[in-house]
Amino acid sequence: MSGFVICVDGPAASGKGTIANRLGALYGLPVLDSGLLYRAVGVMLQRAGGNLDDAGEAGAMARTLKAQMLADPEFRTRAAGEAASRVAVHTPVRMALRDLQLDFARQPGGAVLDGRDMGTVICPEAPAKLYVTADPEVRAERRWKQLTGQGEAVELADIVDDIKKRDARDSGRADSPMVAAPDAVLLDTSKMTIEHATDAARRIVEAARARWESSR
Ligand code: DC
Repeated sequence: MSGFVICVDGPAASGKGTIANRLGALYGLPVLDSGLLYRAVGVMLQRAGGNLDDAGEAGAMARTLKAQMLADPEFRTRAAGEAASRVAVHTPVRMALRDLQLDFARQPGGAVLDGRDMGTVICPEAPAKLYVTADPEVRAERRWKQLTGQGEAVELADIVDDIKKRDARDSGRADSPMVAAPDAVLLDTSKMTIEHATDAARRIVEAARARWESSR
């Protein structure tokens, strides 16, 4: 890995997607939304009539995924998030998606990686790592606004429930992807506007970039 790689990890609806996109625009780096890969596998498996809880079926579907398949708006729905969380627990799925993520990270100019395990598993050597978090109620309200903005009719109480279940599923196993890398800087956005959070993220990345440049 020769380029400047920024890992932005954290739980669902913490603000990491917006922060990752804004950092990408600021530094002119391509952004990978790794959650979209898991969402695509879940939706494609459901469309094919497969079983989300079957590791073998989900792994086989993950091996067919190509970066060009990710534009489908259905991957952004609430149901796709649920399906993603279920297929993401299977080791064959995580292994199949690892190469796609590594190829993205290894682009010569660098990249911004948004996910759960970017700084721990995919790119532990990345020079800049953020772990973005927020209280579950705050995250649920953000996700609810996003989904209603996309035209989905959903109740806030159901989204609070989703977020709590998702946190438990995403962190409830031995190879949990919901752990901050030891060298990640924690950013709690509960009380921050997105502008404030992006500005804080930019300052953290600036410091990491200065260290990275002086070490080369
Ligand atoms: O960030 P998101 O809501 O798009 O993620 C959807 C699900 O995918 C999430 O519940 C957990 C899983 N996921 C993962 O396990 N590892 C990643 N790097 C990204 C997402």
